[in-house]
Amino acid sequence: MPRLAAVERAAARQFPGRLLPPALRAGAVPLAVLREAHLEGRLWVALSPRGLPVGFAVADTCDGDAFLVELDVHPAHQCLGLGRALVARVVQWGRAAGHAALTLTTFASLPWNAPFYARLGFQSLAPEACGPALASRLAAEARLGLRERVAMRLALR
Ligand SMILES: CC(C)(COP(=O)(O)OP(=O)(O)OC[C@H]1O[C@@H](n2cnc3c(N)ncnc32)[C@H](O)[C@@H]1OP(=O)(O)O)[C@@H](O)C(=O)NCCC(=O)NCCS
Repeated sequence: MPRLAAVERAAARQFPGRLLPPALRAGAVPLAVLREAHLEGRLWVALSPRGLPVGFAVADTCDGDAFLVELDVHPAHQCLGLGRALVARVVQWGRAAGHAALTLTTFASLPWNAPFYARLGFQSLAPEACGPALASRLAAEARLGLRERVAMRLALR
């Protein structure tokens, strides 16, 4: 689990500074949050053929829906289907838990963000269609300096 922060930081280096302030690239999901998610069955890790962690997804709930907190694949292992497979596991978890939808926030224009999720069936949400917790997540991201963020939703039923 301690290796996941390095995966997240390597993946974050792909974000342009105009969208993610460079100082925030060093941030990572705290180990305590990963541990709690693991204990609750909300953390999925993708392993390389050598058994090393090279990607992960963390889910939680938000406004009563399943919510994708974090998704990262190390750049050396991208475009091999790991991201798609991780999202599929989160979808499976959300359905099994009886959630009506899986939501997330992401960058609207980066090819591996909103367009990638759109190919998986997610639809962008207008700000007024976001629940209160999702709206406050977007607001908090904007306060941190993230730009061009959008909320997206995948119906699970
Ligand atoms: C988003 C991310 C997890 C996808 O992981 P991945 O293992 O590469 O995902 P997959 O191989 O399953 O699919 C990636 C898709 O993005 C596309 N893609 C990836 N990088 C791309 C790029 N630079 N330009 C255009 N398309 C790109 C791939 O072509 C592929 O498209 P497909 O839908 O036709 O298969 C990974 O790019 C990543 O960690 N990015 C940095 C962190 C991030 O953006 N996290 C998500 C935040 S909400």
